[in-house]
Amino acid sequence: MYNEDTKSFEEIKKEIDLDRLPQHIAIIMDGNGRWAKGKMLPRSAGHKAGVERVKEIVKAAGDLGINYLTLYAFSTENWKRPKDEVESLMNLLVLYIRGELNNLHKNGVKIKVLGDIEKIPLLPRREINKAIKKTKDNDKLILNIALNYGGRYEITRAAQLVATEVKNGMIDVEEITPDIFKKHLYTKEQPDPDLLIRPSGELRISNFLLFQIAYTEFWFSDVYWPDFTKSHLCRAIIDFQKRVRRYGGIKG
Ligand code: IPE
Ligand code: IPE
Ligand code: MG
Repeated sequence: MYNEDTKSFEEIKKEIDLDRLPQHIAIIMDGNGRWAKGKMLPRSAGHKAGVERVKEIVKAAGDLGINYLTLYAFSTENWKRPKDEVESLMNLLVLYIRGELNNLHKNGVKIKVLGDIEKIPLLPRREINKAIKKTKDNDKLILNIALNYGGRYEITRAAQLVATEVKNGMIDVEEITPDIFKKHLYTKEQPDPDLLIRPSGELRISNFLLFQIAYTEFWFSDVYWPDFTKSHLCRAIIDFQKRVRRYGGIKG
């Protein structure tokens, strides 16, 4: 569990081995509500502050040379929240895309959505589709926004897609392998996350990328997402680079 740092961002950054960067980083952006509560502010103020961190972290990830960044923005379970909180999250999504799209495009960011986008209200859905279309040929940083995303739903949906292919005679049951199955997930064609970051002190997955994190390295911090800076991102990468990944073998 990592919390504090006395060094500046530039100093911390120098500790990163740029030849051994994680290719794919996933982040559960958590703690906006508690951050706001601690400051006697409404939860929506926490979400607003969280968006500023999204801007900083996307920029930092791109600058460092990370290829894939997946941000958990809204889960299939988050619909349980009060209507006004869901609305404020959707509004912030619209504001984020409107404010950042040109900049993201200029920086070679390709926006993708992981999740069932058809359930998203019309206005944010339109903005997202616009962003996906505009950035579709970029390849510097793939920014996956997990929106109305649930790992169990994603796996179940993949099972339905594979079953339909079997029913239509496109493949045989015996041909279904983990690799074939993976091609039916939202992250098809993408590498699995190397590093998963969760701030806010919670030590759980909350239905995120259940299939893809089989051998992902985890990094936790007590800081709430609105306090999560690019220095924290660097620390997570530095710690990641100290880990020995064995994938069940005996390497190292
Ligand atoms: C994360 O912060 C944002 C979303 C889940 C959309 P929370 O809103 O979950 O903040 P806490 O966990 O209540 O502090
Ligand atoms: C996970 O955070 C979902 C997102 C960050 C979008 P939650 O706040 O919804 O997770 P739980 O409820 O604490 O497990
Ligand atoms: Mg939370």
